[in-house]
Amino acid sequence: MSSTFGSLLRVTTFGESHCKGVGAILDGCPPKLALCEEDIQKQLDRRRPGQSRLSTDRQESDQVTIMSGIENGFTLGTPIGLFVANKDHIPGDYQAMRFIPRPSHADYTYQMKYGIRAASGGGRSSARETIGREAAGAIAEKYLQERHNVEIVAWVSSVGPIDAADVSVDSIDRTSVDQTLVRCPDPIAAEQMAARISQLKEAGDSIGGVVTCVARNVPVGLGEPIFDKLEAKLAQAMLSIPATKGFEIGSGFSGARMQGSAHNDPFVPKGERLGTITNNSGGVLGGISNGEPIVFRVAFKPPATIAQPQQTVDFEGQPAILEAKGRHDPCVVPRAVPIVEAMTALTLGDLLLRQRMRRA
Ligand SMILES: Cc1cc2nc3c(=O)[nH]c(=O)nc-3n(C[C@H](O)[C@H](O)[C@H](O)COP(=O)(O)O)c2cc1C
Repeated sequence: MSSTFGSLLRVTTFGESHCKGVGAILDGCPPKLALCEEDIQKQLDRRRPGQSRLSTDRQESDQVTIMSGIENGFTLGTPIGLFVANKDHIPGDYQAMRFIPRPSHADYTYQMKYGIRAASGGGRSSARETIGREAAGAIAEKYLQERHNVEIVAWVSSVGPIDAADVSVDSIDRTSVDQTLVRCPDPIAAEQMAARISQLKEAGDSIGGVVTCVARNVPVGLGEPIFDKLEAKLAQAMLSIPATKGFEIGSGFSGARMQGSAHNDPFVPKGERLGTITNNSGGVLGGISNGEPIVFRVAFKPPATIAQPQQTVDFEGQPAILEAKGRHDPCVVPRAVPIVEAMTALTLGDLLLRQRMRRA
């Protein structure tokens, strides 16, 4: 069951990095939603490898085929099958890693857990797995946007020690995010980030970063106390993305340094609902959306596969030097932006359907 996420809007992903293809089954999508492959392709293009000099050089067009669940351009309410072929893989690049587990990658733990692993390309631990989520998430997002006016936008807010200036969570949009290759809406910081990533790619090294995300117009009431609180589901969704190391919502860890008098978000009337003046809560109170923008950050580590020789041991425990070949991302955050958006859409879509079920 570990490849399935969600309860009413449920995605199951399949496929390894070097098998015939990857994809997902999305079950529970409401019927009569206009849907075509182009709706999904837009987000897959933002995620695909080889899209810029800042990403891996693996070239994949990642063209999606909708296998089932639609007719005449509308969803039927039945499972939607999504498939993307793997084309540009070079299994020979992974020869050394058959015998030497990559430090800080998943080779050792997959081998120990299953007693066998797809050594070529990292199997399910490869970021190619995220194609299924991306495709399913694009559908969830279309549903949220068209039927409920929900807007989701993520962007790169830091790379290593380089931080972007604060952006307005009320107005940030994907056009301004995509203006720079690094997907950071602050052009000065973006330039420094891109230069740093290029420099490290050249040196065979890698670097981490942070993606910030906002979901606007989320109706009040989403999230299922106690164990399926909105922030708990979001944290699970985000920390299931490969290479994630941290999740914080609203004031996050900085809230631990504050006093209640400064941290509390005073209520004010906002149209039909109560709103808040500040948003240290990040749009969630008691695990339930309060109508304010949901704002959170996801920390990504530097990718583990680096081109520099690394002193380590092989699977037998013998000293070894790993010289990893292959084409790898020097920094994952520019490509992780649409993945964060997809997992946000899948989480909110599922909780929205669960909340609708409550209505008499
Ligand atoms: C968009 C994206 C691209 C990635 N590209 C690479 C890569 O090129 N090389 C690599 O070693 N890890 C890459 N990763 C991370 C690995 O998939 C991940 O570190 C590995 O599965 C181990 O899991 P963990 O880091 O979550 O523990 C990427 C992750 C994402 C989200």
